[in-house]
This record gives sequence, structure tokens and C-alpha cells, in this order.
Amino acid sequence: TGDHGNVHTHDHELRVSKIHNGTVIDHVRSGQALNVLAVLGIDGSEGEEISIGMNVPSDRFARKDIIKVEDRELSQDEVDVLTLIAPDATINIVREYEVVEKSRVERPSSVEGVLSCSNSGCITTGDEPVTSKFDVLEDAVRCSYCETIFRENIPALIDT
Ligand code: CTP
Ligand code: ZN
Repeated sequence: TGDHGNVHTHDHELRVSKIHNGTVIDHVRSGQALNVLAVLGIDGSEGEEISIGMNVPSDRFARKDIIKVEDRELSQDEVDVLTLIAPDATINIVREYEVVEKSRVERPSSVEGVLSCSNSGCITTGDEPVTSKFDVLEDAVRCSYCETIFRENIPALIDT
């Protein structure tokens, strides 16, 4: 009856305010929001305005994380890396309060210079500078140099 019938479900879901200009990373797997920020090198130390929703209700999944960053648009490299920890994420570019661009992240076949191999015998961990390279598999990544496969805890490999 009355007003309640007209309330759109999205109004119930809105936990953090809309942003003016920037990026909304939506449909992030529950619990991955802080890893996403780590990948992007965003920690708030430069005064960035960031809102994070964790374990909020979602239509698509039972729960999701969502991240809103004011005045920051993501590069393609950054978006590529997100596939490793947030494969279903939607990237929304917001300008003047409107979503002007919406894209899904796409899994790259490999990532360079983003993860570091934790195998101490790997050539990439030696003294000679070698840019890391990992092949992206279905549910894991493989160091292109030593071929070690990492399935668990990929965020721990992120080069910070
Ligand atoms: N959003 C925001 N600030 C804005 C505009 C949008 O924070 N100025 C957020 C919305 O709250 C939503 C996301 O950006 O979480 C995507 O917005 P929109 O495309 O309007 O929502 P949906 O249609 O629900 O998106 P999708 O279909 O991708 O689920
Ligand atoms: Zn290696």
C-alpha cells in the first residue's frame, strides 16, 4: 500500500552515496574489495575519496562488494588485473553523476609486471631485473619463467 510499493529495489541497495566523477567497481566478489584496492595501489594516502561496501545484497550474487573512487578512471592494465580477483566485476565510469560507460572486465591471457613469483628459485626473484610474466589460467596463474602454478591466494603475489 502507498509509497512502499513504488520503492525500487536499488534504493534499498544503495549503501554508499552516488559519486560525482570517478569509477564504481561493482559486482566484486564478496570479501575481495580490499584486494581490489591493493591491486590498484589505492590506499587513501593521497587523499583519494573512496567508499567501500562489503557483503552488501546483490541481485546477481547473494552478496557483493562495491568500491567507489572519486576523480579516478582506471587504465586498461588496471582493469585487466582485476579479472584475477574480481572476474565478474563491472566497471562504471561516472561523469557529472551519470554512468557514461559500463564495461565488464575481460580475462587477459597473461599479465606482465603486476604479480611477483614467490618461488625463491625463479629467475625473476634474482638480482638481474626481469619483468614478471604470468599466464592466466581458468582458476590460477602460472609463472611464465619457472612455470609454478599459483591457485590459492593470488592477491598475495601482487607486486606493491
Ligand atoms: N553509481 C554511483 N554514483 C553515480 C552513478 C552510479 O555510485 N553517480 C553506482 C550505482 O549505485 C550502481 C553502479 O554505480 O551501484 C552502477 O550504476 P547503474 O548502472 O545506474 O546501476 P545498475 O543499472 O544497477 O547497474 P548494473 O546493471 O551494472 O547492475
Ligand atoms: Zn617464477
